[in-house]
Amino acid sequence: MGFTLSASAASAIDTDVLALIVGAEWSGDATSQLGAEFGGELVAIAKEEGFEGKPGQKFISHTLGRATARRVLLVGAGDKALTTDQQKDLGATISKAGGAVRARNAAVWTAWSSPRWTDADRAAGLVAEGLLLGTYRFDKHKAEREELPVLADFTLLGTQAKSAVARAESVAAGVVLARDLVNEPPQICTPDFMADCARTLAEKYGFEIEIFDRAALEAKGMNLHAAVGRGSVEEPCLIHLTWKGKNATKKIAYVGKGVTFDTGGYSLKPAASMVNMHCDMAGGAAVLGAAEALGRIKPDGVEVHFIVPSASNRVSNNAYTVNEIIKGYGGKTVEIINTDAEGRLLLADALAYAVELGADEIIDLATLTGACVVALGENYTALFSNNDGMAAAVLAAASTSGERFWHMPLDERLRDKLKSAHADMKNVGDRWGGAITAALFLKEWVGETHWTHLDIAGPAFLDAEGSLGPKGGTGHGVAALVAYATR
Ligand code: BES
Ligand code: MN
Ligand code: ZN
Repeated sequence: MGFTLSASAASAIDTDVLALIVGAEWSGDATSQLGAEFGGELVAIAKEEGFEGKPGQKFISHTLGRATARRVLLVGAGDKALTTDQQKDLGATISKAGGAVRARNAAVWTAWSSPRWTDADRAAGLVAEGLLLGTYRFDKHKAEREELPVLADFTLLGTQAKSAVARAESVAAGVVLARDLVNEPPQICTPDFMADCARTLAEKYGFEIEIFDRAALEAKGMNLHAAVGRGSVEEPCLIHLTWKGKNATKKIAYVGKGVTFDTGGYSLKPAASMVNMHCDMAGGAAVLGAAEALGRIKPDGVEVHFIVPSASNRVSNNAYTVNEIIKGYGGKTVEIINTDAEGRLLLADALAYAVELGADEIIDLATLTGACVVALGENYTALFSNNDGMAAAVLAAASTSGERFWHMPLDERLRDKLKSAHADMKNVGDRWGGAITAALFLKEWVGETHWTHLDIAGPAFLDAEGSLGPKGGTGHGVAALVAYATR
């Protein structure tokens, strides 16, 4: 299991799939690395099949015993500088192609020092991350699941980037955990299930842990969170893990929306809009995924709080209704106008809790609004912040991690839309600027603390297979949270 870094010649590697990531100069690279006896023919066949080393092209062939590797896979990288996400995608392309031929191991060679990679060590890390993510599947609930071999052993040729690869393994483990949580169906992934996952993490990595159940939420006055969970027999809970790095000079809080199913409540969603609402805990899953990754990395100099307010938003005689006026943990009151705007309610209490902990900086992640997906599409996370310096730092972390975040305006002029006749605020605005009014609602609970809100409703889950993984949870945000905590 895992990665081997090797200085062997590609032609000498005993592996199921030898992958060569190459550009237009590929025939030269390939022949010199594979040995003339095989390379000459390989070049001819690949050319015949139209492979030119362009981005998106690949060519796989059996070696018929003429090389030590069973198969050779050519993957086109083009000649231009590769973006961060393209570098990860190349790794995933290899593991998907390897999986398709039932490989158990693969070796990767490329000219790491080529300018297309920008930074050789970082490139090895990104390719490694892509290799791991590309093998991801979620088939445990298929009764007739095929027992496919697991592609789990990778050799990287011609690189010594040990620490970049180790880091990629940690990040990938976090992403995989987040994906698994999101993909687990809602009768299994309940608030209790998320709490159990946090208990396992605490055990594994020595985090401090605190879990508030329904009674504790009510006793503490986390009334908005308790209200969202009131309609379900599944108990809501607040999950709080703490990592205390040595010589910490900064306290960061990561807060993730953990709505394990969002029916909309009495403001019931239409049938079609309810599908996939088990993914409404993706923010919480990203926070737990970041805990998995940072538990492995064990960063010094920083204290990180992982906070997941979790609940199932359902209807019952006991469920919360519109026109209730509820006092949040931060002391302000909210008039409920729409029970489907539930994420901001449990986040409000969790943000006030993070402020109370004395966090210097808070980042929240939430599948918060459909409006966000209308505005930015499925590939971008909307970023809102009350501090431009922090916003720039989070954007920089996302560009390191290869995730797409877009800075949105926290337009104070829209605050009037949240005015309530009888409470301090309503929980929704009107039709316009729905992602912005949701962010303005959250801002009410963070005071002066530097805070960044990430609306991940678009990229948190995929409706169809994507470059880095299958349909379902993506683990989006995990890598940026890791990059931010370790910058
Ligand atoms: N969980 C949804 C947002 C969502 C929608 C996420 C689609 C992913 C895909 C959220 O709780 C919600 O229902 N938001 C409402 C807000 C509205 C009532 C102001 C929405 O977007 O319609
Ligand atoms: Mn909702
Ligand atoms: Zn929701």
